[in-house]
Amino acid sequence: MKEVHKHRHEQRKHRSGQCHEASTGTLFLSAADVAHIVACKGLDACLAAMVDYIRDDFLRWPEFEKSARAASHSAQGVIELMPVADAHSYSFKYVNGHPGNYRFGLPTVMAFGVLADVNTGLPRLLSELTLTTALRTAATSVLAARVLARAGSRSMALIGNGAQSEFQALAFHHLLGIDTLRLFDVDRAATAKLMRNLERSGMQIAACNSVAAAVEGADIVTTITADKARATILTPEMIAPGMHINAVGGDCPGKTELHADVLRAASVFVEYEPQTRAEGEIQQLPADFAVTELWQVLGGHAAGRRHTTEITVFDSVGFALEDFAALRFMRDAAQELGIGHQLDLIPALADPKDLFALLAPATAQAQLKGVLAA
Ligand SMILES: NC(=O)c1ccc[n+]([C@@H]2O[C@H](COP(=O)([O-])OP(=O)(O)OC[C@H]3O[C@@H](n4cnc5c(N)ncnc54)[C@H](O)[C@@H]3O)[C@@H](O)[C@H]2O)c1
Repeated sequence: MKEVHKHRHEQRKHRSGQCHEASTGTLFLSAADVAHIVACKGLDACLAAMVDYIRDDFLRWPEFEKSARAASHSAQGVIELMPVADAHSYSFKYVNGHPGNYRFGLPTVMAFGVLADVNTGLPRLLSELTLTTALRTAATSVLAARVLARAGSRSMALIGNGAQSEFQALAFHHLLGIDTLRLFDVDRAATAKLMRNLERSGMQIAACNSVAAAVEGADIVTTITADKARATILTPEMIAPGMHINAVGGDCPGKTELHADVLRAASVFVEYEPQTRAEGEIQQLPADFAVTELWQVLGGHAAGRRHTTEITVFDSVGFALEDFAALRFMRDAAQELGIGHQLDLIPALADPKDLFALLAPATAQAQLKGVLAA
């Protein structure tokens, strides 16, 4: 990859007669490139590294310029832009959520994103983020569960067995020691797919006939369903003292998974409060319902789980800083492994004020064609 880049850079210098060292190249990572990175490093290693990258950025929380994501809603779903920046780097993610997409052979969630230099605005990395989002969401869930779930948690109910579910299951298995899974999905084929994909994971896995059956006796409950509705996947009678609820699927206005009384009985933790008030489970509750931002717990500024019988909820909606960290991880891994290729996304100009020169060869060609045709 480096060779290719060097060659292109030389070509540009030759074309333009320039000799300065500035590079306008943008590293591009396709979905296949990211899958290749995961294959080279191992899924558990990638998830573990992703947890570290996300934790490192959450510990620098005050250094970031943050905002709730910008959402464009339609009857079928939502398209969102998620920007965040520190003094050096800026990132954004484009992501959608269309629960009916399976009817068109498309995933519910699809994403890509950019990591750019703040000093110049140059986009350094353009990457797929569909697979990466599944990794970063699972890593964030584990990061939260480490401070919110009961020590020694071994069993997890996993409600919603779609695209994200394997990543949640394997992250909790490898990084938190979950060895028993109880599954439920309204679509039995999704559960069968999940069981097939986890066949060699070493976990004990049971498919259940209802949410209540899956949740019974579980230390942790992960809800990761997709429905553009105010669903009540978990109701108060299903919840036992000491449970940790990793609520991931309710992430849009009008799209929730928990009965409001489950939240009232719990200590609730969120990523970025202004965004979660609009998009998370707590949209069902008054604006003064007390919540704690995860970064405060990670930084030692607030308590996580306080006792073994406390019910904790991680009201996850997905925050831009997780994608910033995920893009950093993918960039570093790609550079280490020599994966991806350089895009000429931004023109390389001999004179940065002479953008018009970019048209010169094409204009000359067109004129020549005109002469020959005459
Ligand atoms: N919080 C975050 O950071 C984050 C990140 C990624 C995805 N998500 C959300 O997670 C959810 C799942 O994403 P996905 O990519 O796995 O979607 P998916 O469509 O691939 O899977 C969702 C599954 O939920 C099942 N389901 C729907 N309603 C159900 C119900 N009432 N009970 C049980 N199962 C039900 C569906 O049959 C489907 O198999 C989506 O809502 C998505 O928006 C959140």
